[in-house]
This record gives sequence, structure tokens and C-alpha cells, in this order.
Amino acid sequence: MSPAPERIRTDLQGKVPVASETILNQALVASRLLAKCRLAMKVLNLLDLEQVAKEKLPQMAYDYFASGAWDEVTLRENRAAFERLKVFYRVLVDVSRRDLSTTILGRKISLPILFAPTAFHKLAHPDGELATVRAAGKAGTIMVLSSLSTTSVEAVMRAATAPVWFQLYINKDRKFTRDLVARVEAAGCAALMVTVDTPEWGRRERDVRNQFHLPPGLAAVNLLPSNARGKIISQSGAGMGQAFSWMLDASVTWKDLDWLRSLTKLPVIVKGICRADDADRSVEHGASGIVVSNHGARQMDTAPATLDVLPRCADAVAGRVPVLLDGGVRRGLDVLKALALGATAVQIGRPVLWGLATDGQSGVETAINLLREEFDLALALAGCANLSSITRDLVGG
Ligand code: FNR
Repeated sequence: MSPAPERIRTDLQGKVPVASETILNQALVASRLLAKCRLAMKVLNLLDLEQVAKEKLPQMAYDYFASGAWDEVTLRENRAAFERLKVFYRVLVDVSRRDLSTTILGRKISLPILFAPTAFHKLAHPDGELATVRAAGKAGTIMVLSSLSTTSVEAVMRAATAPVWFQLYINKDRKFTRDLVARVEAAGCAALMVTVDTPEWGRRERDVRNQFHLPPGLAAVNLLPSNARGKIISQSGAGMGQAFSWMLDASVTWKDLDWLRSLTKLPVIVKGICRADDADRSVEHGASGIVVSNHGARQMDTAPATLDVLPRCADAVAGRVPVLLDGGVRRGLDVLKALALGATAVQIGRPVLWGLATDGQSGVETAINLLREEFDLALALAGCANLSSITRDLVGG
């Protein structure tokens, strides 16, 4: 049992008044360390981390982060596909020195795992996106900032020590979209990731049941009109559908992708691909990368697992641009499997939120470090000393 800080203060105030502040601080540091050790013993993997986060979060926030659309078939499938795939490991390979690093859009990252764009980080922890971007920097990887962030893009960029990409939706109001792109470019983001699987919000019934809303004081600050920026408003409604429908446009087509590209010098990556023809078309329309993604199973339910469609999408792209994958990556071994099937790198969505909810920046660092260690071990066990030796023949049914 760690001593309760209040109790220490009372005892110290009574007995050693001069040294009390120092002792109190040391006791607090010790109790925090103890809490971290307990957490480390409890959290062996990302599935454990989710359990700890679940205990800490209010039900409405946990459900918002965890839920998928309709019957959540795709949510389960994203995981099941990773579990189905078998590894045909190589033996008698020198794997005593392993290199996990890779290069994406000309930037070296320490491991092939990016932070996927996810909304409302302050719903998980008061430090919100600042904690996340600091953890990404420390891990030497890229954070993709959601346009639904609860911290402004400028503040995030000030805290960034590694490249940050910005995710956006093409808004009904094209002038708004154009202004946002200019703002993001001026703030120093290195790429745009346009999400294309959202003509409408998918229906997440847990949110509807909970009447999901942002608590007072939180807002999607990048989307406020410039004269309201900095002010804090509450955006609420029964689920995402009502609260944020104004920021989507069900009429968006490939022409709008061309238009978006014409606005900016930044590379544009297309997120939300599930078919080979759309993968090919994205590249034909000048995409600098694609993300094989079903939005973490939050949009079209019964869409196939991303891992299952990855090989055909990667084949269609044929090495012209990087191919990312997200959805259900929870083990370092999953990263190996995705790379074997043609991904350049993967993204993680919910695990970052679980880390954030558990312990802010330090919790996010725990999440990425757990994955790094697992991926490193998976490489060794598969007989791969670096990413270029991860080939398709390593995996199968
Ligand atoms: C998301 N995702 C998402 N995608 C996007 O393009 N813009 C966004 O604002 C969000 N917001 C968001 C919130 C929450 C709570 C979740 C869980 C997901 C989808 C995200 O980028 C990614 O595709 C998935 O999260 C990947 O799946 P896993 O790793 O969460 O299983």
C-alpha cells in the first residue's frame, strides 16, 4: 500500500514541520514511482492497457473510443484477421543486431508505427494532444493530428519534435477547407491525410445510447471559426452524427481530391481505402500515399478486415507510393504481418487513447514501447534483422 499524500501531510505537519515539504515531495515521487511499477506489472501488453483505461474512463468516453459501427462485426474482424494469419519463420539467420527503422515520405522514423488520427484526446486526459505529440517525438515517430483535435494545430506543432501530419475531411464549405489547409501548412505540418470513408458518420449505437457529447470546456478547436478560436464551447448531440455532420460532404468525389492537391504543396495521403481499384485510382490522382483503413470499424460495418484486403491494395499500388494499414494492430507481431503483406508501416488508433487515459504522455510512451519491444522480438523470432527481410512468404493461412 502506498501512503495517501493527505495522510503524510497530516503526520508531517504534526511531527517534523521544517523538513515537511521536502519529505512530502519525496514521498509523492516515491508513491508515483510505486504506482508506475504496479502499472508496469499489471500492463504486459496493449490489451491490459485497455483494461486499465476502461477502469479510469467514464463509460461514455470509453464507449466513444472503443465502439464500432452497428453490430461491430468489422471491429472483431480487424483483430481476428491478425490472429488467423500464421508466421512461417526462418531459422539460422543472424538476428543479433536488429534495425526497426524505416523511411516514409523522405523522413526516417525509428519504427514503422505511426499514431493514427483520433479525435478528442482531452476526453482521455487533460494534457490531450500535447501529451500525444510529445510521446510521438520521444518515440521518434509521426503523429497524425485529427482535425477533431481538442488542441489547436499551432499548439501541437510548438510541442512537436518529430514530423506531424494533419488529417482532414473535405468540408461542405470549400472555403473553410481551403483556409484550414493554409493554416495547417503555415503551422508546419509535413503532410495532409484526407479521410475518404466518411460521406456520412457511421452509426455507433453505443454513442447514441449514451447520448455522446463533449463535456463542457472541450471543443474541436481547429474547426471553430477564426473569431471564436481560443474560446471554449461545448459541442454536443446524440452521437457524432448530429454534432459534427456539418463538417462532412456526401458529394465529395475524385475531382475534389484533385482540387485538394491543387491547394497545397504538401503531400496528400488518402485514408480509408478497402479496394484495389480505389488504391490504384488514389495514386492515379496524385496521392503520395494510401491508408488501407476502415476507420477502426467505425464507418461501414461488415467491411472486410484491413489485413485481408491489404495484399490486393498493395499489389495495385505496386510500390509507387507508401501503403499504410490501420485497424486492430495490438501486437508487435501484427506489425510484422502487415509489413509482410505489403504495408510500409502501420498506424495505431485506440492503443494511443488507452495509454493517454491511463497516464497521459507516459501512458502513450508505455503503449508505443510495448509495441516496439514486441515487434523487435517478433523480428528476431521470424529470422529478420531488418524490415527489408520481411517478405510475403513469411505469412500464410
Ligand atoms: C478514429 N479514427 C479517426 N480517423 C480519422 O480520419 N479522423 C478522426 O478524427 C478519427 N477519430 C477517431 C476517433 C476514435 C475514438 C477512433 C477509435 C478512431 C480512425 C483512426 O484514424 C484509425 O483508422 C483507427 O483508429 C485504427 O484502428 P484501431 O487501431 O483503433 O483499431
